[in-house]
Amino acid sequence: MRLEEAVLLRTTNKGKLREFITTVSEEKFHSDFGIIDLGELLQKEIGDTITSHMGQVFVIQKPRMPDMFKYARRTGAPMMPKDIGSVIAYTGLNKQDSVLDAGTGSGILAMYLGSIAKRVVSYEVKDDFATVARRNIERAGLDNVEVRCGNIVNEISALDEKFDVVTLDTIDAMDVIRNVKKVLHAGGFVVTYSPFFEQTKEIRDRMAEAGFVDVTTIECIEREISFSDRGTRPSTARVGHTGFITIART
Ligand SMILES: C[S@@+](CC[C@H](N)C(=O)[O-])C[C@H]1O[C@@H](n2cnc3c(N)ncnc32)[C@H](O)[C@@H]1O
Repeated sequence: MRLEEAVLLRTTNKGKLREFITTVSEEKFHSDFGIIDLGELLQKEIGDTITSHMGQVFVIQKPRMPDMFKYARRTGAPMMPKDIGSVIAYTGLNKQDSVLDAGTGSGILAMYLGSIAKRVVSYEVKDDFATVARRNIERAGLDNVEVRCGNIVNEISALDEKFDVVTLDTIDAMDVIRNVKKVLHAGGFVVTYSPFFEQTKEIRDRMAEAGFVDVTTIECIEREISFSDRGTRPSTARVGHTGFITIART
């Protein structure tokens, strides 16, 4: 492994899975299972093991986006994986694409998109949130996701770049729509994520005014299936609402 590479250390203790995300460095990693010399990782490869000073053995893995969803530091509500899946599927996001994203929040959506696209530029209005997101992105080992501190409502009019996909997960997404077309390549997509019908309706109206086509709103509902000795059925846990996804095209 190389310096600064992101790593997932996974172990089992008393039948329970425990995982930690860190980076390869010359430092020591402290956990309740003892101290790990991260410098030793330089001589290791993915799939090898590393042992703490207390004798606890960890398997070395490469963190993937679901690990970041679980372990990234959170500043607010991230977009849920089921909804991120819809964004990717309905825009056809691919490795040639550049994405403009706002607000960054914890950077969960930006990281997922960055793990697929060529480049992601994400705007976050709060300086401290931007700092946390940058740290999460660094821990994920992504060097193609740039977090800029600023209000997308104002910043978008000053942008002199073009993108293939624009994702908006902010309360004021409706105020951004009128300027989205000028930063989108022909045939590009804009996607918004809003918890309420009222916001979604306003966003759709603004999209229509701005001349977007194929304006579609979906809610993605996910049901886990529970397996027990009594039988197999959809989980009785509440099917919670997250947000409405509105997708439109230039
Ligand atoms: C729901 S969170 C976004 C979560 C993010 N998509 C994720 O998956 O981690 C909304 C974020 O947008 C930021 N925000 C709100 N209005 C904004 C604006 N006009 N420009 C940039 N960021 C904004 C908030 O500070 C907050 O961090």
